[in-house]
Amino acid sequence: MRIGILTGGGDCPGLNAVIRAIVRKGIDRFSDEFLGIMNGWAGLIDKSVKPIGKDHISGILPKGGTILGTSRTNPYKIDKGVDRVFETMKSEGLEALIAIGGEDTLGVANKLHKAGMSIIGVPKTIDNDLSGTDYTFGFDTATQIVTEAIDRLHTTAESHNRVMVVEVMGRHSGWIATIGGIAGGADCILIPEFPFSVEDVVELIKKRQARGRAYSIIVVAEGAKPKDIEQYMTKDKSLDAFGHVKLGGIGDFLAKEIEKRTGAETRMTNLGHVQRGGTPTAYDRVLGTRYGIRAIDMVHEGKFGRMAALQGNKIVDIPLSDAVGTLKTVDKEFFEVAKVFFG
Ligand code: F6P
Repeated sequence: MRIGILTGGGDCPGLNAVIRAIVRKGIDRFSDEFLGIMNGWAGLIDKSVKPIGKDHISGILPKGGTILGTSRTNPYKIDKGVDRVFETMKSEGLEALIAIGGEDTLGVANKLHKAGMSIIGVPKTIDNDLSGTDYTFGFDTATQIVTEAIDRLHTTAESHNRVMVVEVMGRHSGWIATIGGIAGGADCILIPEFPFSVEDVVELIKKRQARGRAYSIIVVAEGAKPKDIEQYMTKDKSLDAFGHVKLGGIGDFLAKEIEKRTGAETRMTNLGHVQRGGTPTAYDRVLGTRYGIRAIDMVHEGKFGRMAALQGNKIVDIPLSDAVGTLKTVDKEFFEVAKVFFG
């Protein structure tokens, strides 16, 4: 078969492991031909494609990012975008497409499937917020980076008797903050799922100070909101093609409030895109590999309109519509584990 592969949305470690697995098994077992679609949906709109053979995937397993490039292009927001996507599929003789992405990319894949495209999804996002799958690849690497950063911040916080506010990614879900925060021994974790009171955070720090703990580590997800502020803290007012604002600022806001109200010297570190870069962990390499293998099998089983997913220890497939309907957020019960260690 002649199959297209694209990676869309924010990049994440493990994308190349997925591409490698698809191409390796596809060529060796099924004699497939592959076309890499460059820069997400933009490649199908602009007909920016390149053949991918075994030479292209050699040595890419440990590399972060994606050899295909990525973008947040939305064909449904571009004049004749969807027509051009279908035209490229036809003119390039593509019989199927494997889209590797998060909520936005797979949301487009789901719509294109309904419009007649033979398409398979693979779940990717460092945010781990896709429904229907226990884990997305990239998340383990991101939480490893956050944990290591918190460990490093701990020693400097303790030496200087400072409060360290660590801002991490997570627009609507606080998985990175929660798992990274638990693993790093954070004294308080603030996530979008549960609006917080600045006063409670200040009280927590003051109680630690009274106990002789002059330093504190506060982990805050970029999408966390104080109870009395309706809006997300944003860098500017612009929206991307999927209607997302550029988040950022909650860490700075919190650090200023903490310093003002507790008198403790406070510093803010925004881990930003460091969380998405670099080499994937062994877990993400293996998870990405397993997803890639399942995706190419699904193409040959004709399981279109579906996504490879991890459930327990098994890789299964579920309808794309189940994955993109609602975000998988941190539940109260899980967050209770983190709360045991607050203060
Ligand atoms: O891909 C998800 C994500 O990493 C979010 O956690 C974050 O808000 C966003 O991407 C950042 O996007 P960009 O790379 O466009 O700045």
